[in-house]
Amino acid sequence: MNTELKPKIIKTDKEAYTIYKYAELNSTNAFLKQHYAELPDFSVIWADKQTCGRGRFTRIWNSEPGQDLTFSLLLPLTTLEQERRQNLTQIAALSIAQLLEGYGLKPSVKWPNDVLIEGKKISGILCEITATEKRVCGVLGIGININSTDKSLTGIDIPATSLRSELRHKVVRKILLEKLLEIIINCFNVLCQTGFSQNRQEIKKRLAFVNEHIIFTDVKQNSYSGKIIDLNDDGTLLFKCEKRGIISLNSGEIEFHNSYLMRKQ
Ligand code: BTN
Repeated sequence: MNTELKPKIIKTDKEAYTIYKYAELNSTNAFLKQHYAELPDFSVIWADKQTCGRGRFTRIWNSEPGQDLTFSLLLPLTTLEQERRQNLTQIAALSIAQLLEGYGLKPSVKWPNDVLIEGKKISGILCEITATEKRVCGVLGIGININSTDKSLTGIDIPATSLRSELRHKVVRKILLEKLLEIIINCFNVLCQTGFSQNRQEIKKRLAFVNEHIIFTDVKQNSYSGKIIDLNDDGTLLFKCEKRGIISLNSGEIEFHNSYLMRKQ
């Protein structure tokens, strides 16, 4: 790679992916988007510290250097049907939920890109698409609060938790990352080979706020008050809107609204 930043290549017994670990990057997503042409499919860029970690809607993603996990995975999308691309974020959320269940936790998926434990955010996903004439790639950026302390989590403006806070002990990030990569790559292969239906069933079981009153804000900042009824076959949300009746929502996010925040604090 044409960069003065030297990564440590982490050896694993898996041929499917290669992990490049950096001490510090601005953002693993930004870095991977800049360098993907030089990298094979399923390359993983892991940074111990991000100086400019990004979330959806131009938000900042903060994590504790050396304690949490911030990485991006390069997915080959050239042969994936275009309409399946919107499912990538959700299969990542499902994979993280399944990983956390392996630690005895009960996570839920806040559609489309957050993973919660008892309503508190433990992980966020930022999936971006990048392409040349010959190659279309997904840059799947994932941040998980692993070993951040209760004290540092109180600085986050929404209810948040970490694996350490939940388990009351520290977790080795490399082991967790390898387990997670295996789950994601497996879900991704299922998506490519059979479509979304199998992953959809698994996401539905873990979907947060179904039949609860929520406020949803779309990318144009329109707000919808109502209830989530279901996850549609294509991965959009089936929503009973107080003002517009039954609609499908395909982009935007569920608000962590005030009454909800009060309940969780
Ligand atoms: C969100 O909650 O809005 C998504 C957060 C995504 C954060 C991850 S951390 C690794 C990767 N690099 C980034 O700059 N962002 C993603």
